[in-house]
Amino acid sequence: MTVDTDRLLPSTPVTSLADHLDAGGGRGLERARVLGTDGVCDLLEDAGLRGRGGAGFPTARKWRGVATTAREGGGTVTLVANAAEGEPGTYKDRTLIEQQPYAFLEGMCIALEATGAATAHIGIKEKFTTPVERLRRALGEIREAGWAHAERIEIVTGPDAYLFGEESAMLEVIEGNLPMPRIVKPFEAGLAASTTEAHPTVVNNVETLSHVTAILARGAAWFREAGTEDSPGTMLFTVVGDVQSPGVYELALGTPLRTLLTDVAGAEDIKAVYSGVSNAVITEAMLDTPLCFDRMQESGSGLGSGGFVVYDHSRAIVDVLSVLVRFLAVESCGQCNACKLGNSAMAELLATVQRGEAEQTDLETLLRWTHTVTDQNRCYLPVGSQIMVGSTVEAFVDEFVATVQAGEPTPADLPTPLVEHIDEDTGEVTYHERYHRKQLDWSYSDEEPGELRLEAIRDPAVSPQE
Ligand SMILES: Cc1cc2nc3c(=O)[nH]c(=O)nc-3n(C[C@H](O)[C@H](O)[C@H](O)COP(=O)(O)O)c2cc1C
Ligand code: SF4
Repeated sequence: MTVDTDRLLPSTPVTSLADHLDAGGGRGLERARVLGTDGVCDLLEDAGLRGRGGAGFPTARKWRGVATTAREGGGTVTLVANAAEGEPGTYKDRTLIEQQPYAFLEGMCIALEATGAATAHIGIKEKFTTPVERLRRALGEIREAGWAHAERIEIVTGPDAYLFGEESAMLEVIEGNLPMPRIVKPFEAGLAASTTEAHPTVVNNVETLSHVTAILARGAAWFREAGTEDSPGTMLFTVVGDVQSPGVYELALGTPLRTLLTDVAGAEDIKAVYSGVSNAVITEAMLDTPLCFDRMQESGSGLGSGGFVVYDHSRAIVDVLSVLVRFLAVESCGQCNACKLGNSAMAELLATVQRGEAEQTDLETLLRWTHTVTDQNRCYLPVGSQIMVGSTVEAFVDEFVATVQAGEPTPADLPTPLVEHIDEDTGEVTYHERYHRKQLDWSYSDEEPGELRLEAIRDPAVSPQE
């Protein structure tokens, strides 16, 4: 599903190590051996590579940081490749693994070489059976071919939870625990950290590591032939929702968002777009923004991990916001009271509006929760809901008020946009089938439609309504 650039996604899937080597694979790792830590980091810095997992953090800075900590006595470095892909609206990492797993694994070998990491783990959901199988086969091939670094790479399968993809929660899973975010960042205290040694861990997204392989093989100037000054290169974008051609597309950064959504994915009559659940809603007025980290942020939203969920004017905005907030309420782990309670309360208020039973004061209460939901937060999840709810109510305030005044139920027929599969031939998108039954304690209700059971977490002492 490549459009005008095929740097990462090949025109036909690469199905063997021999095919990867024929297409120039292996050169990146050779170059990394010659360059060493500083040389590799200098090259990635010249290329301007920024992480594709959501925050756009410069990869070279991350790698240099852990290598320095280790050199100064902080213990051994570990590498973690983040293949959890839990953001609503994304499907690019699984596509990449299925179509070209060797470039990703070579990127891991380069990272092992450059950061001096002793071991590496790939964190991937157990339910992603096809990508897991593809990775196992490719890893087996490169081990058999004698790539020494591959002996130090382990695949760790994890739970079907959004927080599995949060980097510190992924470390918890690798250590055999539930995906609960930590207070300290992995580069400060990593896997098997102790009171005397930090053992810093570097966490990178699958796509980021795949770009590393291409940059090492072809150079910084080549990488910068696509993209913008602050966001060089290409990026994989997923588009789902109310579009004619959902899919995963590779485009140069800097391409206008409108081009991706309308020309490439065939969206019409766009009402609201979400780049995952951590950014502000994107409205029609923002569609000419270039797809790059800084410009998307300046526009008031963000690039996220490049997954876009599109809703057209046939949708009730309260239905849209309700599925997204319900997702965050369910996925919040509850270590921080304000996050679990605030997200649950907002989900409940939106469900009341959907049933046609809300009053105008409920909208004010909804907005009040956005002020407190981030109190003492360990991770970014509630910041996402604060931004998403605040921006959506602000952009569509007239519709929210009119819906409450009408007092009629809304269709409430939208799936949670967690992508299970996109059929490349037919463009058919399959979403997580049972998600609407997932509960606040991460169990699944047997009932349809599976309304949230709130009693378990309600605590009036923390409620701003009291
Ligand atoms: C709630 C939450 C969920 C996340 N899920 C993912 C994910 O599924 N995949 C991913 O690569 N990064 C995810 N991230 C971002 C990671 O924490 C981390 O920043 C990223 O893997 C770093 O890789 P990069 O520097 O290559 O972008 C998530 C972050 C948060 C706060
Ligand atoms: S902020 Fe929310 S999701 Fe993050 S650790 Fe706290 S309760 Fe869990």
